[in-house]
Amino acid sequence: MTMVMDDVVVAREARHVLQTYRRQPVTFVRGQGVRLYDAAGREYLDLLSGIGVAALGHAHPGLTRAVADQAATLIHTSNLFFHPLQGELAERLANLSGLPRAFFCNSGTEAVEACLKFARRYWYTKGEPRQEFVALDESFHGRTFGSLSVTSDEHYRTPFEPLLQTVTFVKTNDARALARAVSTKTAAIIAEPVLGEGGIRPLTPAFGAAIAEACAKTGALFIADEVQSGLGRTGYPFYFKALGVHPHLVAVGKALGGGVPVGAALVSQEVADTISFGDHGTTYGGNLLACRAALCVLDELIGGGLLAHIGRVGRHFEQTLRAIAAKRPALVKEVRGAGLMWGLELTRDAAPVVPAALARGVVVNRTAETVVRLLPPLIITEPDVDEALARLDAALDDVGAVA
Ligand SMILES: Cc1ncc(COP(=O)(O)O)c(C=O)c1O
Repeated sequence: MTMVMDDVVVAREARHVLQTYRRQPVTFVRGQGVRLYDAAGREYLDLLSGIGVAALGHAHPGLTRAVADQAATLIHTSNLFFHPLQGELAERLANLSGLPRAFFCNSGTEAVEACLKFARRYWYTKGEPRQEFVALDESFHGRTFGSLSVTSDEHYRTPFEPLLQTVTFVKTNDARALARAVSTKTAAIIAEPVLGEGGIRPLTPAFGAAIAEACAKTGALFIADEVQSGLGRTGYPFYFKALGVHPHLVAVGKALGGGVPVGAALVSQEVADTISFGDHGTTYGGNLLACRAALCVLDELIGGGLLAHIGRVGRHFEQTLRAIAAKRPALVKEVRGAGLMWGLELTRDAAPVVPAALARGVVVNRTAETVVRLLPPLIITEPDVDEALARLDAALDDVGAVA
């Protein structure tokens, strides 16, 4: 299949868009459910959903209606005033996470940034300022200075140093290393319950127990970054539940608005009690449009039975993916993930798989050099899984043939 790039679009971007992204050679103009269409009307099955954002797929009728209706009613008033939707969304997120309070922002990195600040504020208010954070190797928490400081990848960090000097990185899933790193100087441990950009690496329950123990021993807070793994993606409302650990703070973003930018820091009462008026803020955060979209996503996730659907389809996805992997032991090293969040670790650079998959009509992405990342829309059905993974199977053959 030939992919279609719009030459005018590409040329204009080349002149005027800051070149921070190396884009794939395709211009998408339309979507419907789990399908995307390029400028020539060619169809692609989407196994990436805009990096875990389009949880309800594309042009979802309920989300489309909600956003259009809200846009025609009232989009934004700022956080200087009340509006009817922010409290309702906070309440729903509290019921889902067990953390009673929410601070709304516009992206994942802002959600993490808020969590880091609230952790520092907690210790400051207690009269025992703690500055240090413990984070994981292979972590990714975003591109703003605080989030970047707890992100391990040197490629992202080095050009922007000095970052926060008070971060210790420990090996993922190494309980002993964690116990050694966390002390009574640690403000918070921060971890993704499933490392996303780091190659779809779920934390083990044993490591979850080590986090809980380190927090209990030292008083350190635990920040769970569920920006990628949260809100049903893994078949759990949040993957920290699978680890049996109770975070004090949770960062969410990506899927929350189904494509409308919205993030949130979810906060325990203990931490919330240490935060005062004016400690943190944002102009857009939690505006009416964002909240309306997020309420629609949560309606589908909980009332609409999406969580149960993810469990079922996720099992089918896993079985089909493992069968594809088993056929080529020389190419596929490991299959990792949960629910509808999967990584196929190859024995070599996974970059060629992305254009090969596009040419076969399926959208995937590479992360951590060797991992093919799969984050389909949560509404994907079993027949769509079969079709999409058959296309990926063919793309892996194409890549294998030229290797
Ligand atoms: C776990 C995690 N945290 C934070 C972020 C940053 O989110 P955003 O790109 O919306 O700022 C990402 C983005 O990929 C992520 O995967």
